[in-house]
Amino acid sequence: STPVHSDTSPMTLTRYMIQVAMDNTDLEHMQDMQSLMSSIQLACKKIASLVQRAGITNLTGYEDSGSINVQGEEQKKLDVLSNEVLKNALRYSGKMGVIASEEEDEPVMVDEVYSGNYVAVFDPLDGSSNIDAGIATGTIFGIFVQNTGCLASDWESKIDETELTCLYNTMQPGANLVAAGYCMYSSSVMMVLTTGHGVNGFTLDPQIGEFVLTHPQITIPSRGKIYSFNEANSPQWDPVLRDYVEKLKTGDNRAGVKYSSRYIGSLVADVHRTLLYGGVFGYPGDQKNPNGKLRLLYECAPMSFIVEQAGGIATTGKERVMDVIPDAVHQRMPLIIGSKDDVQELLDMYAGDK
Ligand code: AHG
Ligand code: MN
Ligand code: MN
Ligand code: MN
Repeated sequence: STPVHSDTSPMTLTRYMIQVAMDNTDLEHMQDMQSLMSSIQLACKKIASLVQRAGITNLTGYEDSGSINVQGEEQKKLDVLSNEVLKNALRYSGKMGVIASEEEDEPVMVDEVYSGNYVAVFDPLDGSSNIDAGIATGTIFGIFVQNTGCLASDWESKIDETELTCLYNTMQPGANLVAAGYCMYSSSVMMVLTTGHGVNGFTLDPQIGEFVLTHPQITIPSRGKIYSFNEANSPQWDPVLRDYVEKLKTGDNRAGVKYSSRYIGSLVADVHRTLLYGGVFGYPGDQKNPNGKLRLLYECAPMSFIVEQAGGIATTGKERVMDVIPDAVHQRMPLIIGSKDDVQELLDMYAGDK
């Protein structure tokens, strides 16, 4: 049952997490999720304020050092800053054992004092190429339980035990996620979260500085009228995908509808719109980049968990994203995600059904 929100007792994210934990004492991890989410939401409020004032505080643009991250991307000042903010918030939650970030070459072991038995994977600032133009960006996070069964002997490589434990604990399939969410920094600041029991959306109320439940039990429409791809890459797409998008343009599809195109260039914003309005988002592999651009661990898997929990589909084009076991922390993975009927139509075309 979704707790009720009223003016005199706003259903804040904090209260929601307490209530869900109290109402579902059988659900393991909910007590820990409660304190984890208070750390994560604090970090996201801080990142929201950094993003909204970037132009005023000279925090737009690239890192002065010209640093290149492990992805080969030139880091924005806010990529680095938001990474520090989130790392510290998670470290001092006392629940975290290991954290992996887009902006960290290797996973980071949280020092003993504060160590807990969860693993966080995150993209501290998604869509950071949009930051200087004041266009929507976001933070994406996923939470796993730490694999205590990691034996150094399981691995051939010679890196030391700590590193092994660290690495092993981050490379889990999306199906192991116990929680996933994103915070979108746009015309409103929205936190969308799942702990495996549906998806809920909270909007930051600047008057009280709290995320308030505004979108209880989000379900994605079974079909939409919007497709969202970077069509500049379409000459390199496989012919089936080109044909599928062509059919969305002409109306020659199962819905008999001519679609519109929307592409913001921030995964968080494009997926959030797809979640609420329906339709399909894709960053497919192509001839140049067979694994596409998005990172499996902290972009594709958390987003797939959320969209599946809302009744949608998330596929690599060949298999369910959440079944893929990463073999590298920053591994890229093709992603086609959105409304059940939209994505199923593409999958059926790949299977040769008309
Ligand atoms: P990030 O800013 O975290 O590196 O992610 C950027 C990603 C994702 O947000 C977006 O969907 C995609 O890059 C856009 O890529 P293109 O600019 O190649 O379309
Ligand atoms: Mn990046
Ligand atoms: Mn990203
Ligand atoms: Mn990023």
